[in-house]
Amino acid sequence: MASHQLRLFQLLLLLLLSSASQARDIISPGQPLRGNDTLVSAGAGSYVLGFFTPPGSNNTYVGLWYAKVPVRTVVWVANRADPVPGPVERNARATLSVSADCTLSVADANSTVVWSAPPAPGAGAGKCTARLLDSGNLVVSDASGHVAWQGFDHPTDTLIPGMRVGMDFGTGANMTLTAWTSPSDPSPGPVVAVMDTTGDPEVFIWNGAEKVWRSGPWDGLQFTGVPDTATYMGFNFSFINSPKEVSYSFQVANSSIVSRLALNSTGAAGGLLQRWTWVWAAGAWNMYWYAPKDQCDAVNQCGPNGVCDPNSLPVCECLRGFAPRSPEAWALRDNRAGCARATPLDCANGTDGFVLMAHAKVPDTTAAVVDYRAGLAECAQRCQRNCSCTAYANANLSGAPGHRGCVMWSGALEDLRVFPNFGQDLYVRLAAADLDATSKSDKKAHVIIAVAVSICALAAIIALAGFFWWRRKRARARQSVGAPSKWSGVLHSRTLTSEGTSHGADLDLPIYDLETIAEATQGFSTDNKLGEGGYGPVYKGKLEDGQEIAVKTLSQASTQGPDEFKNEVMLIAKLQHRNLVRLIGCCICGQEKILIYEYMANKSLDFFLFDKSKSMLLDWQTRYRIIEGIARGLLYLHQDSRYRIVHRDLKTSNILLDKDMTPKISDFGMARIFGGDDSEINTLRVVGTYGYMAPEYAMDGVFSVKSDVFSFGVIVLEIITGIRNRGVYSYSSHLNLLAHTCSSSMSRHYL
Ligand SMILES: *[C@@H]1O[C@H](CO)[C@@H](O)[C@H](O)[C@H]1NC(C)=O
Ligand SMILES: *[C@@H]1O[C@H](CO)[C@@H](O)[C@H](O)[C@H]1NC(C)=O
Ligand SMILES: *[C@@H]1O[C@H](CO)[C@@H](O)[C@H](O)[C@H]1NC(C)=O
Ligand SMILES: *[C@@H]1O[C@H](CO)[C@@H](O)[C@H](O)[C@H]1NC(C)=O
Ligand SMILES: *[C@@H]1O[C@H](CO)[C@@H](O)[C@H](O)[C@H]1NC(C)=O
Ligand SMILES: *[C@@H]1O[C@H](CO)[C@@H](O)[C@H](O)[C@H]1NC(C)=O
Ligand SMILES: *[C@@H]1O[C@H](CO)[C@@H](O)[C@H](O)[C@H]1NC(C)=O
Ligand SMILES: *[C@@H]1O[C@H](CO)[C@@H](O)[C@H](O)[C@H]1NC(C)=O
Ligand SMILES: *[C@@H]1O[C@H](CO)[C@@H](O)[C@H](O)[C@H]1NC(C)=O
Ligand SMILES: *[C@@H]1O[C@H](CO)[C@@H](O)[C@H](O)[C@H]1NC(C)=O
Repeated sequence: MASHQLRLFQLLLLLLLSSASQARDIISPGQPLRGNDTLVSAGAGSYVLGFFTPPGSNNTYVGLWYAKVPVRTVVWVANRADPVPGPVERNARATLSVSADCTLSVADANSTVVWSAPPAPGAGAGKCTARLLDSGNLVVSDASGHVAWQGFDHPTDTLIPGMRVGMDFGTGANMTLTAWTSPSDPSPGPVVAVMDTTGDPEVFIWNGAEKVWRSGPWDGLQFTGVPDTATYMGFNFSFINSPKEVSYSFQVANSSIVSRLALNSTGAAGGLLQRWTWVWAAGAWNMYWYAPKDQCDAVNQCGPNGVCDPNSLPVCECLRGFAPRSPEAWALRDNRAGCARATPLDCANGTDGFVLMAHAKVPDTTAAVVDYRAGLAECAQRCQRNCSCTAYANANLSGAPGHRGCVMWSGALEDLRVFPNFGQDLYVRLAAADLDATSKSDKKAHVIIAVAVSICALAAIIALAGFFWWRRKRARARQSVGAPSKWSGVLHSRTLTSEGTSHGADLDLPIYDLETIAEATQGFSTDNKLGEGGYGPVYKGKLEDGQEIAVKTLSQASTQGPDEFKNEVMLIAKLQHRNLVRLIGCCICGQEKILIYEYMANKSLDFFLFDKSKSMLLDWQTRYRIIEGIARGLLYLHQDSRYRIVHRDLKTSNILLDKDMTPKISDFGMARIFGGDDSEINTLRVVGTYGYMAPEYAMDGVFSVKSDVFSFGVIVLEIITGIRNRGVYSYSSHLNLLAHTCSSSMSRHYL
């Protein structure tokens, strides 16, 4: 009996082994891939190639997906327009095969070929094979190693690391991204991303016949239209512009980063082109970046010679020295006609000059002339000499100073926008008369009107400023007995008042300008960097009056608009509690949003808690006081303040410690106010930190004050154990706090 069982066991083992050995990465003539089988790339085994049926479809396709990402995400489809009819379950006998002459083909159960890829001319010298590489590239090669065909030359809708978008003039491969028609239909839809190789190359997204987005040319570091790329951590971007190839691609620095750039025509929530990264801890894709993002990302929003600035209202204005071509239409915000020169150029006399426009996404370079070897000075001379040149800029910011290339535009400048603090310098040609800012104003009626309007506006501003100054002075005189206001020494600061909010109370929160803050932080020097918050870096600074401050910059990635930001600032400014970090001021400098807090000498709790030598300093009494302090702060947020506030991102790094080790809750970037009777809110965008997040919030997006209490519990356990709770959820079994801490924190300690 026992030997019988043993034999059965051996048989099972054999079966298992044989099925494991079936994971192959190669097909050869006579050994096709069947509909019920898959290829797995050798090496790290990152990708799987096999037959699949998209949800909602009745067709079978050959696709590529990640082996290790549990949510099947198809990144490449071979026969996207030529499916095998019927769902995959009924297509076990369909095949992907390679022929002796290196033709790759997909056939149905009756061996009727539905799709095929002919080999490149010259390849096909026998012994053809198709191998799935660990990069995700399906490569057909012949005996001599000639590449007859490769999947990376034919991207579908997704760019994975190593895949290129652009033109390979050697092989003639035109690598574009084309969105699926719909989530159930991989066939090519109307949304296409193409590299335009004329002029200075740039990527366009088309929706049918309409241009919907322009990347701008590569400036040596990034596309000028995606100016925050240089801040991305863990990526290597590559742009090749040579006679043999014009292409863009990316690599990830660490293979544990799974990132893809996908074009999705139904991705209404976040642009058409989306960069996604897989968050292992959360078990979900996270959208890292998307485009088009704002109104000014729409192509040619403000017409020829117009400039789009998303932070001004209206968003369109004319370039300096230009006026609306059709003032009536412009006044109605129909900007299509664009702007025309106020004064014609006078090239022959050589009196024209250039005006600098900073932070620009340079105009459409399709017709621009580029010379990567020139420098800016030479570029200026060339543009001055050539009467058709209307603007110039550097072409390659990664080159040596003085040799950063030269792009020159002729004719009208199309699709020009500005960024608040990123972007490039653009030099625009103007007639001598327009170069002079205080030029004679005997032009046209609308100039006079404009002047009159601005004088009125100025008068109004002065009157308002006077009024506020008077009121503030009065308020100050009333509130302070002798002692001068803390802020009286602060130069260049305005005051943000909560006038017009429903609460009406006057709020004296100083607004600083960028100069003051830059001065305080020694120009945001890295020496002064305290750390990196969830939303951007934090710097230490010292105001003119000697007060030490922590300056928190909210990076561009935060999607908050100025109004939301203002509301948040108001919210924090009104919260006053011993265990909440105090906001001193803020700065809304264009899109740069900066919060200024009191400086905390002892940094944050995690800094102490998880450092062997420093944690010695935390005796039980101190730990108890810290827990108590956090609880008091939280109670104030939840119950005792005027609003019911859920913090949503409580964690040890957000608990700051002052010089007396008093804990202060910080980072209200994700906090939400609850309306009167609401006890929970459902959110589509789950923000916060995994590991501290209540399960019902992490999974269903339902949050309430209880979510904070969960995070508090995790913090308490961390304070007691001194062990970091690494944020991994096991979705399957333990969903309560106790089981969770047992499995992820305690067990680590005791096992
Ligand atoms: C797939 O189907 C074929 C024919 O129907 C069968 O011979 C083969 O064993 C199946 N392979 C797997 C892995 O199920
Ligand atoms: C798929 O085919 C089945 C049976 O032929 C049919 O009932 C179903 O409606 C089809 N589904 C789609 C999405 O076409
Ligand atoms: C295969 O051929 C048979 C007989 O001609 C036909 O009945 C069947 O529908 C075909 N199957 C497919 C998938 O085309
Ligand atoms: C590449 O293909 C796109 C559309 O498929 C086309 O518009 C473009 O001109 C092609 N590029 C080259 C260099 O042929
Ligand atoms: C990224 O670029 C850096 C610097 O050029 C290089 O050292 C590194 O190996 C690159 N990483 C990848 C994954 O290509
Ligand atoms: C890659 O990232 C993982 C997780 O963040 C880390 O454990 C690993 O050390 C990294 N590998 C390299 C080579 O940096
Ligand atoms: C496009 O985005 C939508 C909505 O986010 C998603 O449901 C769909 O699966 C995406 N399509 C593809 C082909 O990934
Ligand atoms: C050159 O400038 C002079 C004086 O400013 C002007 O009279 C003359 O018309 C200009 N020449 C041309 C070709 O515009
Ligand atoms: C002047 O610029 C135009 C367009 O930028 C260009 O086609 C032309 O060759 C240039 N002429 C000279 C003499 O450089
Ligand atoms: C830009 O400059 C860098 C550094 O000198 C150089 O490696 C790169 O090839 C240049 N790019 C172009 C397109 O010339």
